[in-house]
Amino acid sequence: MPGSLSALVWLPLLAAAGTGALDDGQALVPPMGLNTWNAFGANISEAVVKEMADLMESLGLVAAGYRYLVLDDGWSDPERTQDGRLQADRQRFPSGKRPACLPNSIKALSGYLAGKGLLLGVYSDSGGFTCQGFPGSRGHEAEDARSFADWGVSLLKYDNCYTHDDLLERFVAMRDALNATGRPILYQLCEWGIGDPWLWGPRVAHTWRTTFDIHSSWASVMQNLDESIGLARYAGPGHWNDLDLLEVGTFGPQPNGWEGVHGASLGPEPGGAWQWATPPRVRGQYLSEKEERAHFALWAILKSPLFIAADLRRMAASSLAILRSKEVIAINQDPLGVPGDLIWKSGPKEIYAASLSGGGRAVVLHNRHSILSHLQAANITVRWAQLGYAPEERAAVRDLYRQQDLGMHAGSFTAEVRLHDVAVLRITPQDPQPAQEAWRPWQGQPMFERHEEDEGWIPEPLRAAEGRQGDQQ
Ligand code: GLA
Repeated sequence: MPGSLSALVWLPLLAAAGTGALDDGQALVPPMGLNTWNAFGANISEAVVKEMADLMESLGLVAAGYRYLVLDDGWSDPERTQDGRLQADRQRFPSGKRPACLPNSIKALSGYLAGKGLLLGVYSDSGGFTCQGFPGSRGHEAEDARSFADWGVSLLKYDNCYTHDDLLERFVAMRDALNATGRPILYQLCEWGIGDPWLWGPRVAHTWRTTFDIHSSWASVMQNLDESIGLARYAGPGHWNDLDLLEVGTFGPQPNGWEGVHGASLGPEPGGAWQWATPPRVRGQYLSEKEERAHFALWAILKSPLFIAADLRRMAASSLAILRSKEVIAINQDPLGVPGDLIWKSGPKEIYAASLSGGGRAVVLHNRHSILSHLQAANITVRWAQLGYAPEERAAVRDLYRQQDLGMHAGSFTAEVRLHDVAVLRITPQDPQPAQEAWRPWQGQPMFERHEEDEGWIPEPLRAAEGRQGDQQ
């Protein structure tokens, strides 16, 4: 795996430790950054990426913890070089026109980002082509991984288009190729949650998507949330469930006419420019401020990677404030690394909780009642017993979006939560005990018990590979 330990060493070590995780020191907390896909589609360029990097710095997003800038689909040229290497599109990434002896455009870009305190990520696909028809890495894993390492790439998002079977072999092949480069490259799987990646993902990558693509509607955000409930127990430091990009500050139609993931590609024009069909369906309603707040807090507490998908040149101040919410981000980045999960639900009222380092809890009280409801708000009560505390425990309650202390409480806390909104709380016992860190949100939740068939389940290709590595020791 990417990192300092070679696969020969770490696979048997992990098997012995029984963790099943990569444990290479990367992604100890969920990665944060910006990904170009939902705002720009495949229409990305060196100029726009640099603009995003400048804005990430000047808007305080780098300081808030967003470290990666990921070029999603569309950065590469439709053709590989004569010696089979991937190359950036030469029109949209003009530094690539330099003589071969000078750094190519992607390398130049990673240097530019480094000057802003940012790390560069790129996208490729485990099939013959990317989802937008650019060259995929199938059969080219070793040379592509080498190119990424040579260019100073620090993250690879690896997709699942133009493929049929052998899903695991494809993703494992790139894991091994990245590892062989010796450069730490955070590995983000994107197989859309279709092969139960939470069961085997910890052995293969640092993050795995749990769902198909998100888009900017409340329905889409709730769908990705619902499909990820119950999966917290599979994630932890170095291996995270990825609920997909943040729809905070994202809009419908883009200035260039590109409407995000609903556009259908027609393929390149003869001149090489990419053409897009009229979107086949009307883009969903984008999120209200309350919905953006709820979405961000839910992604934060479930410990999804936090990747901004907005065009930073045209973002509302309220969206920027949400993305910079220091204390909500701190839940996501808490060093204990315990993902939150749903711990209680009654119709539209929901409670999510996570254990925090030092014995505290993060809690999100969520009201997802229909906006057609005549009720404007609902009272939601979290009881200490639901958080693994004694009912008489006295604990400080703090509102993390408002950054306000709400006093000491024993037994429970009730908040009034508006429709499609959240109360995001940190609960800190008066006399916190390190042992209180041991509580897990899925503990005592029959719905979230691990099933026997999941226990120790290692897909055959991985088992075979690990057996072979073990034999060589
Ligand atoms: C797939 C992925 C998206 C995005 C696009 C790019 O749909 O799931 O996240 O990377 O491909 O084409």
